[in-house]
This record gives sequence, structure tokens and C-alpha cells, in this order.
Amino acid sequence: MKRLLIPMLMAATAAIGASAAMPVIKGETFPDTDGRHINAHGGGIIKQGDTYYWYGEHRGDGSPGSGQEGVTCYTSSDLRTWTDHGIVLAVSDEPGHPLERGGIIERPKVIYCPATGKYVMWFHHELKGRGYGAAEAAVAVADNPFGPFELLHSGRVNPGIAHANLPAEALTKVWDDKLEWWTPEWHQAVEEGLFAVRDLEGGQMARDMGLFIDDDGKAYHIYSSEENLTLNIAELDPTFTRHTGKYIRIFPGGHNEAPAMFKRDGTYWMITSGCTGWAPNAARLMRADNIMGPWEMLPNPCRGEGADKTFQGQSTYVYRDGDSYTFMADIWNPKNLGDSRHLWLPISFDADGVPYIDSPSNSK
Ligand code: GAL
Repeated sequence: MKRLLIPMLMAATAAIGASAAMPVIKGETFPDTDGRHINAHGGGIIKQGDTYYWYGEHRGDGSPGSGQEGVTCYTSSDLRTWTDHGIVLAVSDEPGHPLERGGIIERPKVIYCPATGKYVMWFHHELKGRGYGAAEAAVAVADNPFGPFELLHSGRVNPGIAHANLPAEALTKVWDDKLEWWTPEWHQAVEEGLFAVRDLEGGQMARDMGLFIDDDGKAYHIYSSEENLTLNIAELDPTFTRHTGKYIRIFPGGHNEAPAMFKRDGTYWMITSGCTGWAPNAARLMRADNIMGPWEMLPNPCRGEGADKTFQGQSTYVYRDGDSYTFMADIWNPKNLGDSRHLWLPISFDADGVPYIDSPSNSK
């Protein structure tokens, strides 16, 4: 009986889905079909038809902007074997071009927009010669997943529009702009909206970011704002290329980066990191019943050896396939960013449905 059952079960599984199981990747080199380590960092994966597309930062070996050619795309039919399709959004050699070589492109995410039939890429964009000072959100679109993606616009978010949950008093308050950073008074002012109000006219800063498409088809841009101190969740219009102006601040002053949002059984979850540059820190977990808040903070979702440093990684994306969720993270190598490693670990859910991530040594 057993002999018959196993092939029957295998056939049934194959029939249900073209959906492949996500491998566990623990920071080893991850070669593509040409034998080169996959140069797609701070990225994410989408599935279209039977193909998986992995987009990420192309990185050189030096400082953030140096050697960066743009955004790469790799494809796979089984999530294990990846073929390099090269640069799908390229930096430009034209002086003054908004994507001029030497700027920084980070955390690109691509989504397919059913309303326009286009592939839409959002990324954190820094301008040449300005370090991390520009803090812009950029959007590029393409007619097919291999690009070339054309830049639509790059800038701060929602200029002139206040967050839905910014306290009304913040708008009329006279702020003391001489407050010394990191003092309790400064911290309180940040929470109350010091930087949100400072940036109201020109638009909010946008650095580390992710995208999320809800069950109702609405898309959201989630990004670190206010000098990386406060996360924002901003609704996108039906073309997925513009903000609607509806957006909120969450955990003001909480210093969250690397947001990766997912949803399970009607609950929104988000894993983020703290803010320590390329060095790892402890991941954070937050939940909400409504994407527009309120959001609640839970303890570190990582368990076991190395949990206090997210097993050396920093979140970039949660890949969902049905009820299977995978935590995708980058193990950064600031001396050779292109050689930064990938960490893919399964997400489990406890009896209360709270997600957790076991250490690589306990993950199969
Ligand atoms: C990290 C951030 C990365 C990159 C880096 C630069 O905190 O998550 O995307 O910006 O800082 O130091």
C-alpha cells in the first residue's frame, strides 16, 4: 500500500502546482547558471506564469555607488537554479542624468501592475556626489520583466501632504530646531513630528523600502523616513507608479530599516532591522489588523543561535507562495558589496499564528 501511496501523492503534488519549494540558503556563495555568485542584493522575487524573477542591486566591490551598474534580474523555474539576465535598469554615463553613474540604487522591488500591464520598479535612489543625502524614492517601468526599465520619476514622497496620523498640533507647533540629537527632548520632538513637519513642503525622505500588494489589489510603498527614524506606509495609485497621498507614520523615532511586509490569515506582519549600516542587528517584528494602523511591536522573530544579530543578515523581502513564507535577507560584505551573501530561511508560525525564524543550524 505504502509503495503505491507515495508515487500517488507525488503525482498529486506535481499536479496541484507548478510551485517550487524555496531552498534554504545560509550565506554560502550562491552561483548562477554561469557559476557566478548572484549579484542581486536588497531585492525580492515575483512569480509570473511558471517563472520566478529575482530583482536586486547590482554591486561592485567598493563603496555604495562605486561599480554599481544598476538593477539585475535573474530567472528560475525552481527557485534554485538562477539564470542571469543582466542589468534591467541601467545607470547612465550622461552627465546630469538622474541615474548618473556614481549615484546609489538600493532595495529595488518590482511588481506587475494589472491595470497597465507594466512591470513597475521602485527603489531607494541617491544622487551622484550627495552620499545618502537625497533620500529619494524612484520609479521605473517596463513592458516586460527583462526591461529595459525606464525611469519615470525620482523624488521625495507626498510633498505638501501631511500623514493621515500626524497629530494636528504638529502642523502649528513652533519647533525648537536647535535640539541636540539623541536627547530625550529631541526624541520626543521626533515622535511628535519634528522631521515630518520639516519635510512637509519638499516631501518626506525615503530610504530603505519595500512594496506590498494587498488582497484587494492595492499596492503600498513602505520606507524609512525622517532620517531613518520613522517608517511610512504610503498607498499607491492603480498604476502603482504614484502615491495617492494617503499615508501614515509608524513607530516614530523607532529607527526601523529594511522593511519586509507580508500578510497571513488577514493579519499584516512586517519584519524590519534596526539601523546599524552594513552591520547586522536584531530583527524586529510588527503586526496590524489594518495596513493603515495601528501597528504593534512584538519581540524579535529570530530564534536560536545568532538570533540577536539576525544570523548576520538584514531583511530584504518575504517571499510568499500560498501558505509558505520565506525570510530573505542580505549578509552584507561592505568591503566587497557584490560578494554579500544571501540568507533564505523558512518562516514558521507558532500556535498563536505569530511568525518566527529558526537559526540556520535548525533550518532545513
Ligand atoms: C543599511 C541599509 C542599506 C544601506 C546601508 C548603507 O542600514 O539597510 O540598504 O543603505 O545601510 O550603510
